[in-house]
This record gives sequence, structure tokens and C-alpha cells, in this order.
Amino acid sequence: MMNNLQDWPEPIIRVQSLSDSGLPMIPDRYVKPLSDRPSSNRPENGEANIPIIDLTGLTDDETELSRSTMDRISSACRDWGFFQVVNHGVSPRLMDQARETWRSFFHLPMEIKQAYANSPKTYEGYGSRLGIEKGAILDWSDYYYLHYLPLTLKDYNKWPGSPDYCREVIDEYGKELVKLGGRIMKVLSIDLGLNESHLQNAFGGENIGACLRVNFYPKCPQPDLTLGLSSHSDPGGLTILLPDHEVPGLQVRKDGQWITVKPARHAFIVNIGDQIQVLSNANYKSVEHRVIVNSGMERVSLAFFYNPKSDIPIKPVQELVSADKPALYPPMTFDEYRLFIRLNGPKDHIEFDPSLVIVILGLDCWLYMTKFDWIKLGFRLIKYENFGFGSFVA
Ligand code: OGA
Ligand code: NI
Repeated sequence: MMNNLQDWPEPIIRVQSLSDSGLPMIPDRYVKPLSDRPSSNRPENGEANIPIIDLTGLTDDETELSRSTMDRISSACRDWGFFQVVNHGVSPRLMDQARETWRSFFHLPMEIKQAYANSPKTYEGYGSRLGIEKGAILDWSDYYYLHYLPLTLKDYNKWPGSPDYCREVIDEYGKELVKLGGRIMKVLSIDLGLNESHLQNAFGGENIGACLRVNFYPKCPQPDLTLGLSSHSDPGGLTILLPDHEVPGLQVRKDGQWITVKPARHAFIVNIGDQIQVLSNANYKSVEHRVIVNSGMERVSLAFFYNPKSDIPIKPVQELVSADKPALYPPMTFDEYRLFIRLNGPKDHIEFDPSLVIVILGLDCWLYMTKFDWIKLGFRLIKYENFGFGSFVA
């Protein structure tokens, strides 16, 4: 198997250092092609926002949400792939503490942060790029990535040792978010017409994966030319995002437009990742999103990824497959899927041969595919070619 994941192809430059140096123009490496820039194409509908859903009644023991709340969750997952939750059971104090602890980390002197510099082998630690393509156009952000689960991957030495209490706060936050993720999984299972533990079991029950990516978006002198995070869909199961409480930036694609999320106070932003799109046989959508930056204020966000156990094959749930709606995706483990994305970076389009798709999946499947599915399948097919075509049947 190819493995050139040991190191980055070029010296790493911290975006925060570039920003702090006060340069008036961003280096060419960060300038996006015209079609990807924030203001490209259509004017935005300023009023629109992703649905806001009140989870009062959803506890670890009971799932007592009203019919109308369930309906709102259902259409959010099907039409938006995104929603905000309030009264979700995580303490507002812990949310603020987690975000501000991380903000303090990013404001520590560079020598301290560099001790946690990451490599493309595991991505754990302090990073400034995704993917190892030499000469790639980069995003205007730094990040920190760490594992909570499984316990075999949890390693305090790879978590920041300062500021004080950092590890305790991260630990407590992770514990609460794993619980919230489990509660949301139940609601989604019920909405899909399944037993409430169905999705959780498909994820491996207790043996799920959970990791945190903290994004730091420094001020940018030319925000119209670049992005804080390029358009992507999240490869994992479910993402629970704690956004900056003061600075918007996340944009979600809806009917071809980019909608800027207006965060509600002490809300989390929840979105469906690729693995749940697959399990739901595309009843739910893993929707593309991106982050814009600005010249006045830095932005911090905590993306918590609730993922399947990494070596279980993920495929459409049998109950959601029928003659009318055949399985749209071949089985694939999250390990396999993630490796491909790590090699190639968070690209949202990729070249592949459509005739191959029809031959392998059959015409029925092809007819059901949206452009977005094509992109995802492109990932899969290319990956299968790379690893020997083997054994999948649609
Ligand atoms: C991510 C992500 C959005 C944000 O980390 O995958 O989409 O607002 N973050 O930082
Ligand atoms: Ni994302």
C-alpha cells in the first residue's frame, strides 16, 4: 500500500504567524480560484438560517420529543443536513470554558504550540493543512486535532499541557459530547423508522470513535480572496460544532446558495456526516459547508466528530433498501474512507470515469444518484482502484 504519510511536502507556515506579521496581502498559496471565493456567484439570502431545534425532553434515559419537534428534526436532516440544537443538556458554563480554554491555547507563544506540531500520519496535534499534495492552495486557518475514543487512541501526551486545566476541561467536554451524540443518534434512528439503538449499533455500540478538531481562524487582510476552510462534507458520522459566540463564518450549501449560519446563544450546530448519509441510504444528506474569514476578528470553533468504530463496514441499513430504492453505496469501513481523504485533502470534486459507475452499480443505482453522490462515489471508486478492486457488490 502506498504510504508517504510521514511528513508534510513543504515547511509548515502557521497562518496565525502570517496574520500577526501584519502583512497587507495574503501569500499566493492562500488565494482561491475565482469560483471558490466567498462572494462568487449568487447573492446570499441574508434572512435564511438553518433550523433551530429545542431538545427539551431528550435525556439519556428518555426520548420524549413532541411530534412537531420530531418533524422539524426530520426535515432538517433530509433538506439541510444541518440544524442547531438548544436545551441540549450540556452546561453553557462548560461550553464557554471549553471554547475560551482553546482560545487561550492558540494565544500561547509559538514555541509552546510547536511542541505539539502534527504530521500527516495521524494528524493529532497542532496543524495548518490537510492533505499532502505539494503546491496545494491552502486554507486560512490553523487547528488542533485529538482523539477521545476509542480509549486505545486517547493519549493525554498529545493533548495540550497548558493552559492549566486544559486537559480536564477537554476531558469533561468530551464526556458530555459523547453523551449528547448518543442521544441524537437515538432520535435519528427513530425518525428513520428504526429501533432507537439501530444507528448506534451500526456504529459499533460502545466502541465508537470520537475526536475533536479545534479550528482557529486568524484575522485575514484579504478575506474576499480566500476561505478559512474549503468546501467539504464531514467524512464521519455526526458532527457537533461549538461555534464562536461572536464571530459568524460557517456557511452551508442549500439549493446552490451559501447560507451563513447565525449561531443561537449556547446552541450547538449538528450536521450529518458521510457515514450517516450512507447508513440512511441517502435519506439524510451530508451537506457541503465551508468557512469564510474576515479582517476584523479571529474566530474559534470546536468540531466534535462522533464516528463509527473504524473497522466496521458501513453500508445502507437493510430496512431502508427496497426494489424502489436500491442500496446506493457499497460497504466500506471508516478507516478505508478516511485514508483516502487524508491522502487527497478535502477536495469537493474529483475526476473519475462515470461509465465505470454504471458498470459496477448498475443502471438503477445510477439513476438515483445526485451530483453530490457522484462525487462521493468518485472517492470510493478511485480508492478501490488503488487498493485492488476486490469484492464489493452494490
Ligand atoms: C469542520 C468544520 C466549521 C467551523 O471542522 O469540519 O466544518 O465553523 N468547521 O469551523
Ligand atoms: Ni466540517
